Amino acid sequence: MPSTAASTLDSAVPTRPFTYRDGILTIDDLPLPTLAATHGTPLYLYSAANIRHRLSLFAQAFAATPHTVCYAVKASSSLAILHLLGQLGAGFDIVSGGELERVRRAHAPALRRIVFSGVGKQTWEIDAALEADILLFNVESAEELDLLASRARALGKQARFALRVNPDVFAETHPYISTGLREHKFGIDISRARDLYRHAAARHPSLLATGVSVHIGSQIRAVDPFAQALTRVAALVHDLRTDGHTITHIDAGGGLGIDYTAPLAQTVIISTEALSEPQASRTGEAENPASPTAPPTGAHLKFCHSERSEEPPYSPLTMERSDVQPDHSTESQTTGDSTPEPAATLNPEDQIAAYAQALLPTLAALNCHLLLEPGRFLVAQAGGLLTRVLGTKQNGTKRFLITDAAMNDLIRPALYQAHHEILPVTLNSEQGSGDPEPTLETVDVVGPVCESGDFFAHDRPLPHLSPGDLLLLLDAGAYGMSQASNYNTRPRPAELLIDAGQAHLIRRRETLDDLLAPESLL
Ligand code: LLP
Repeated sequence: MPSTAASTLDSAVPTRPFTYRDGILTIDDLPLPTLAATHGTPLYLYSAANIRHRLSLFAQAFAATPHTVCYAVKASSSLAILHLLGQLGAGFDIVSGGELERVRRAHAPALRRIVFSGVGKQTWEIDAALEADILLFNVESAEELDLLASRARALGKQARFALRVNPDVFAETHPYISTGLREHKFGIDISRARDLYRHAAARHPSLLATGVSVHIGSQIRAVDPFAQALTRVAALVHDLRTDGHTITHIDAGGGLGIDYTAPLAQTVIISTEALSEPQASRTGEAENPASPTAPPTGAHLKFCHSERSEEPPYSPLTMERSDVQPDHSTESQTTGDSTPEPAATLNPEDQIAAYAQALLPTLAALNCHLLLEPGRFLVAQAGGLLTRVLGTKQNGTKRFLITDAAMNDLIRPALYQAHHEILPVTLNSEQGSGDPEPTLETVDVVGPVCESGDFFAHDRPLPHLSPGDLLLLLDAGAYGMSQASNYNTRPRPAELLIDAGQAHLIRRRETLDDLLAPESLL
């Protein structure tokens, strides 16, 4: 069995594209204050190089098996990002007719590499996907199977489908984004799947069973649940082949988590001194902060990944079930977003190698084409949300930093109690001087929306910041802009994609006219 060791994976690209140069935060060498001055704030920033690197990690880790990475469009749906991935050969996991249209406009050749997931597909969406001749419908219920069959018959097509099975596997993550247990709304009980495949073959000539699909949740950092789910799928594939179905594809879903609390050591800090050093010594620090070849780090940046008091209102284990025993041995690695775990930092290369090692042995025996549906792992750490401090406020013992970004721009902290690291864009002379004890203040970072749920961080140690200063929220490339809304009639931010030293405006800032255009008076 081929084994993919972490060391064989290309790790020259830092986990995140953000770097301090002479005390100023940059993305792929472009200074953030310049981008803010040109494009305004709040502003989403993404690195094309980082996204390409993440995609290449899948190609390397899964080289032993035929596979297609079907990027989960919902993670970040910008046409430019879809175009970038589509051109590199990625397929797409869509969940709506809207996402289908995005793929068509971004890179039409990739329509044939689409898998269509989602628990509530409508007739018009099924029709559009049939007309586009997508690769696979991931069917979520008996009713949907019958609807798909009747639409395919009506349009004179044959629909390739997989049942999305629910493997009843526990994966530790935030309860809102866990999907692999029987009580969740997702998938078809795996014990019923064989009968449904029989039903489809017997009753629906307009359907062709070509795959089995599974997706157990999102932001899952342990790989064992993925392996368990795939083992159950493999047993089903065996049964289905016995029944005469020609199963050629296994869709293993998405869900591979990232390390939202990765220490800043992985964000290379370069001083002028270091810039004059050879390139090799500059890249060393990202992998090994203690490396003697690492550049001087300037400040300690204690405000990043230091003690935090953000307490999630409940543990990811609240969804624990009496008949399902989570494997607590993996707990330190698998807690969901809401619980920063300083221990066990995983770099992306090691993580994907472990993921591949968990899946490949089972796949080797199956002789199937593997489909993967990563979203977060591909784009989260490539992106950040740049925001400006509007003002500060002291209420009793609490100090607030009020930013021009709010929960409508990035809802993850409010919705999942998610942790995002927050960096000041400019290190003042105290932080930049290498002072081991820069003065920190404990602040709540909040937006201007009229809800107490509108926060980015509670009790976060940050250097002293004043109105007009810039902050960067890290790891906002996934489920940031794609979940943004116009709540409080706030125009959504602009988006920039940085590629080869150029900042490309891939979505202009919304105007009030954009927001109000669909409305009319009586
Ligand atoms: N495939 C299916 C069928 C999915 O439902 C999802 C995500 C994915 C793939 C991609 O999962 P990923 O690789 O990105 O974990 N808004 C939440 C995450 C929701 C995930 C929904 N489904 C968040 O901000 O954490």
